[in-house]
Amino acid sequence: MRHLISTRDFSKDEVLALFDRAREFLDEKPRTLLKGKSVTTIFFENSTRTLSSFETAAKRLDAKVLRLDVSRSSSSKGETLFDTAANLDAMNPNAIVVRHQHSGVPSFLARYVKCPVLNGGDGKHAHPTQALLDLFTINEHFSGNIEGKRVLIVGDIKNSRVAASNIELLSRFNFDITLVAPPQFMPNVDLKKTSNLKEALENADIIISLRTQTERHQKQIYGSLKDYAKDYCIKKELIKDKDIIILHPGPVHRNIDISDEVLADKRCLVLRQVSNGVAIRMAALLKLILES
Ligand code: NCD
Repeated sequence: MRHLISTRDFSKDEVLALFDRAREFLDEKPRTLLKGKSVTTIFFENSTRTLSSFETAAKRLDAKVLRLDVSRSSSSKGETLFDTAANLDAMNPNAIVVRHQHSGVPSFLARYVKCPVLNGGDGKHAHPTQALLDLFTINEHFSGNIEGKRVLIVGDIKNSRVAASNIELLSRFNFDITLVAPPQFMPNVDLKKTSNLKEALENADIIISLRTQTERHQKQIYGSLKDYAKDYCIKKELIKDKDIIILHPGPVHRNIDISDEVLADKRCLVLRQVSNGVAIRMAALLKLILES
């Protein structure tokens, strides 16, 4: 049984094949490729984009969607994850999409169910479909010429599962990665690092800006978001007229992560990422359900 717990679950060739499939789905037409199949979504942590994106993807392929409302489910009454998994499995879905505040929950579930599990984000660990849609967005923009492109990952990298998944995936696709963050947001990984955004921007093709993951900080570890923004907000005066693209997984802290002006700039691909996300999730659901 194949699952999508981390970007490592798909080889480079599989990622490229997934992109070919996703490209077909950009026409947004409904299809019947998953007619008769069912997809269960169970999100233990808030989500705007990822949940609706997965559900839109499943419906565009004609699958039935069952959303487990976790606030009203038995986990809030003390049911163990093992029992939740066993009960989900007894309903025989064809795929389960799960998000959880704790790292490792999707891989735990995967061990106890008979269908593919797709990770919609677990703690600080991984968010594979986000990294896949980010890479797809970059790949489409550069018409496939991505080898050696210089990408800056900017923000609370240490606490971001999006950063973790992007670092894994973009490294395998030979991007030249620089991490840009203040020391408290910098992870302990072997990549180029700087705290100077202005300098790093001189040679960049792509910026992936990240939200400060305040919900994952035990205590406040920065002066204020305004202070952070002074050094790390992507502003027009920093990017000027550079030939660069700007991505962000959302939700964006406006004028903290990216300024209003840059958000409205055509180099900012945030909404393109959202549209591409549905196509990528269609391709991922299709691959895992039909191959299992
Ligand atoms: C991200 C997440 O939940 O990890 N958002 C998303 O899925 N689009 C990033 C974030 O919350 O900052």
